[in-house]
Amino acid sequence: MNTVKIQTGETLLVAHRGLSGLEMENTCAAFVAAGNRSYFGIETDVHRTGDGGFILLHDRNTARVARDSIDVEETTFDTLRKLRLCDRDGTKNRADLHLPSLEEYVDICKRYEKACVLELKSDFTEEEVRGIIGRVKALGWLDHVIFIAFDYENLLRVRKILPEQPCQFLTETIPEGLAEKLAASRMGLDVYYPALTRELVQRFHEKGVQVNCWTVNEKADAERLMDWGVDFITTNILEKE
Ligand code: G3P
Ligand code: CA
Repeated sequence: MNTVKIQTGETLLVAHRGLSGLEMENTCAAFVAAGNRSYFGIETDVHRTGDGGFILLHDRNTARVARDSIDVEETTFDTLRKLRLCDRDGTKNRADLHLPSLEEYVDICKRYEKACVLELKSDFTEEEVRGIIGRVKALGWLDHVIFIAFDYENLLRVRKILPEQPCQFLTETIPEGLAEKLAASRMGLDVYYPALTRELVQRFHEKGVQVNCWTVNEKADAERLMDWGVDFITTNILEKE
């Protein structure tokens, strides 16, 4: 398996869950694979653990990535870290595949000079958001983080603590008034790409709202979206030529 090369022009590519088209999603291997290539940023998903820590995975439960079914928010960080993850082909032979810590992810982004595109998956409290921000800041990479979330309240908590931090609101649909709402809170859009049209991209841009879209894995879709002027494309497998 290889990446699919595209000419990107001004559009920035973000590796979704790391370079998850080549390596197991949301693992250090996937983050390093993206780090070694020309991506602008590396996306991942952060959850709270049962003992007040943070760990990176997409689902609330480990069944899909580890076969063992464990509820993340009910389980301690140390227990979750001991899990060995499956590889992309379902085998479980690699000792390096485990659930990454927030620090491991930020450290890899920093080492390879990539933006962190950090999705806040749990409905975090303000204290927890402060905790996440504090950990990234301690590693000296906060200026390179875009916070993304489907839960708008999560982004408002970030906005309260860090008025200037880049944030993007994740959504599958674009209701009336969203461009104005995001412009007022100085947030970007991160949308399921079939919901976009050329006119919508233009409307968001007229309001000064940047447009990211997910998860674009076909070259033809990416080329259409780039022609419409999207600012970011989040992808599992496309790579800048
Ligand atoms: O980058 C946005 C995208 O990650 C949102 O969808 O389900 O992969 O978290 P999901
Ligand atoms: Ca995500």
